[in-house]
Formats: sequence, C-alpha cells, structure tokens
Amino acid sequence: MGIKLGVNIDHTATVRQARKTDEPDPVWAAAIAELAGADIITVHLREDRRHINDRDVHLLKETVASPLNLEMSLNEEIVKIALKIKPDEATIVPERRQEVTTEGGLNVVGEAARVKDVVARLREAGIRVSLFIDAEEKQIRAAKDADAEAIELHTGKYATAKNEAKREAELEKLRQGAELAHSLGLEVHAGHGLTYRNVQPIITLPHLTELHIGHSIISRAVLAGLDQAVREMKALLK
Ligand code: PXP
Repeated sequence: MGIKLGVNIDHTATVRQARKTDEPDPVWAAAIAELAGADIITVHLREDRRHINDRDVHLLKETVASPLNLEMSLNEEIVKIALKIKPDEATIVPERRQEVTTEGGLNVVGEAARVKDVVARLREAGIRVSLFIDAEEKQIRAAKDADAEAIELHTGKYATAKNEAKREAELEKLRQGAELAHSLGLEVHAGHGLTYRNVQPIITLPHLTELHIGHSIISRAVLAGLDQAVREMKALLK
C-alpha cells in the first residue's frame, strides 16, 4: 500500500464563501475527489468559519465513503463539534484568527495538558488523533506523551525554502523527525504547502503513510476545469 492522499477541499468552500452562495459545494467536491482516487477527505473547520462550515462537516460525515479527517484547533466549541460528528480522524492544528493559513506547528510542549485532555476525549469517542507539528524532537516526544496515534509533519518550511541547500536541510529535518516518530510508535503523516513541483522528494521520507494536500490541487482544478466550464456556458448561448 502506497502513501495515502488526503485531499483538503477547504478552498472549494473558500470560493463559495466569496459570494456566500451554494456553489461550489464541498460535498460535491469530496465525491469527485473520491472518485478520482482520494484516499482521505480533509477539511478544516476554522473557528471563524471562513470556508468550511458546520453544515459541510455534518454532510461530509454522512456522504464521504473514505475516511474523513477533520483539522481542528483546541478551541472547546470545535472540540465539542468534533465529539458530536465523530470524524474518522482529527488533526489538531494551531489557529490564529488573522492568519491566511496555518502558520507553524502546534506547540504540544507548551500546551501539553490541554493537548493531552483533547486527545483523550477524541480517542475515547473512537476518533484517530494526529498532531500537526514541526519536525522538532521535543514536539515529537510531547506528541507521544500526549498519546496521539500520529503526527503530521509540517512541510511548510520545506515548501518555501529559498534555495536547494535550504530545501535539502529542511528535508533532512523531516527525515529525522519521521524516523524518531516511527521509533516511538507514532504514525507519520506530512503536509502543508506541497505542490505538483515539490511533492516528489517528500515521498522519499521514511515511514510516511499519509500526505494532506489542498491549495495546489484546488488551484490546479480551477485551471484544468476552466476550458470545459467556458465551453458549457458558450453552448447555452447558442
Ligand atoms: N495539513 C494541515 C494540518 C493543514 O492545516 C493544511 C492547510 O489547511 C494542509 C495540510 C494543506 O495545506 P495546503 O493547502 O498548503 O496543501
């Protein structure tokens, strides 16, 4: 079994929210992604509901056939929603309201008690728990102490590295992080900032079982689908 692809469909909802209308519907997007081979559907229910909303997560839980991975912060309101909806997997991420997207990994060391409490409650509800962290030894060990089943290594610094030497250095940190996590019995996932151009070195990381990719896939979908979309509108004008 190769590396599983989790397709993050948040940005289909970002487009919908630009007009606060009903299209495109992320529920449809999830079905199309699954039919194309997505192994996991990932959505982030942000505290400000800027893209995915509560209705989406409820419907996705009903309609998605593959595992549903909910990215979520430690916010109590969101934790309660997760406990009610019971996605197959929850990935705990840090969240700041002003950020454009998730910046940096979760500080598991700094929030150890809160993380441990949320992990325990989610696992008790039968949800697999992953922690989105930087590839730092202390964070990986803290993830183990918090009783998470998996970690998602933050690939953002690798993705934005300005030159080859820096990219290779980030890849090496990810490699060491993956080895350490695996040796502690943690499942190894990775994601953030991955694109069609930079994903290939990432799949050489040891013990990698899941990749979560969003922005680049949705960006590609917009351009790949534009030709057909224009043709369909033109056909209506005949
Ligand atoms: N993994 C996590 C934990 C994330 O927060 C995100 C962004 O929502 C992704 C993966 C996907 O990142 P990108 O959209 O850059 O592919």
